[in-house]
Amino acid sequence: MRAVILVGGYGTRLRPLTLSRPKPLVEFANKPMLLHQIEALVATNVTEVILAVSYRAEEMERDLSEEVKRLGVRLIFSHEPEPLGTAGPLALVHDLLCSGDEPFFVLNSDIICDFPFMQLLDFHKNHGREGTIIVTKVEEPSKYGVVVYGDDGKIEDFVEKPQEFISNKINAGMYIFNPSILKRIELKPTSIEKEIFPHMARDGELYAMELTGFWMDVGQPKDFLKGMSMYLTSLRQKSPEKLYSGPGVVGNVLIDETAKIGKDCRIGPNVTIGPGVVLSDGCCIKRSTILKAAVIKEHAWLDGCIVGWRSVVGRWVRMEGTTVLGEDVIVKDELYINGGQVLPHKNISSSVPEPQIIM
Ligand code: GDD
Ligand code: MG
Repeated sequence: MRAVILVGGYGTRLRPLTLSRPKPLVEFANKPMLLHQIEALVATNVTEVILAVSYRAEEMERDLSEEVKRLGVRLIFSHEPEPLGTAGPLALVHDLLCSGDEPFFVLNSDIICDFPFMQLLDFHKNHGREGTIIVTKVEEPSKYGVVVYGDDGKIEDFVEKPQEFISNKINAGMYIFNPSILKRIELKPTSIEKEIFPHMARDGELYAMELTGFWMDVGQPKDFLKGMSMYLTSLRQKSPEKLYSGPGVVGNVLIDETAKIGKDCRIGPNVTIGPGVVLSDGCCIKRSTILKAAVIKEHAWLDGCIVGWRSVVGRWVRMEGTTVLGEDVIVKDELYINGGQVLPHKNISSSVPEPQIIM
């Protein structure tokens, strides 16, 4: 089987991280977001993954080639001359998707869950119509595509980012389609959510399968951290041996084996520590992701932060309120940082008491 992953888009909501790496390559729980998805697809007998890319394709090719060899899956890069939205990329690989008469998966690249692809395939074959989308329940549906459907799963209405409340069931960003969907899509910038799904719903050709378990769009910092906590909770149930345990560790914590942990640290709950990270003595870290090769100095205190690659957080620093440090940022000793984003390669030498963007 084949799958298309939509990896275009500029990832502006995940800045400053996406100033250094394309969103799908940002490590979520110590693994590029995209790899979580590719691994799950491979486990569902997908042998060809088409990456629909609109920019920074070379970086993706370089960073993924090793992993892909390990997984034994064929990766095909489909470069868009201009961003084609969420449907246009399918038209660009029309011939590939129509060869063989099999259904294919389509995924947004910034979502995380226990991907139920096998179940999706079964459900789709069972109703026999053109498409199935996975839906989940959220508290704030206005940020998403909202779906209205009957008990049998048949979708009656699909409204992208509605202004008014319609339902709390939303598009989770994972689909399976028969090749016949391509008759609906022209080769031009097109939104699958706004221009294709409403028509399919009207024709009775679109079904919804409800997701069980956790789900999160991790394309912005707050949700990235929320998604990480959910992912670690799920890991505790499925593969607790992957989580770290040791003195000073509280709750679910993932630590790469090449990280160095000092004495008397307090880590957790809900923390991911990347490869080569150094946590110095007496650090306290909660609900945060520390990316590759960052250094946290003595007695720093972090809650709700993402620390970018190779950044350095000084001694006795207190950082909280969804602070995101870009790549190679230095925060001087004893400062207080309360939220906001710090662009790559910046030196912070005075406290930031209110959230702001530091350029
Ligand atoms: N190839 C390509 N070209 N990919 C694109 C383009 C493009 O021009 N524009 C966006 N994408 C990719 C993004 O990289 C992402 O993987 C996916 O399409 C969806 O774009 P987002 O920008 O993340 O959309 P969203 O989060 O606002 O909304 C979408 O996801 C929600 C679930 O997380 C919609 O599909 C909603 O209906 C859905 O509820
Ligand atoms: Mg998104």
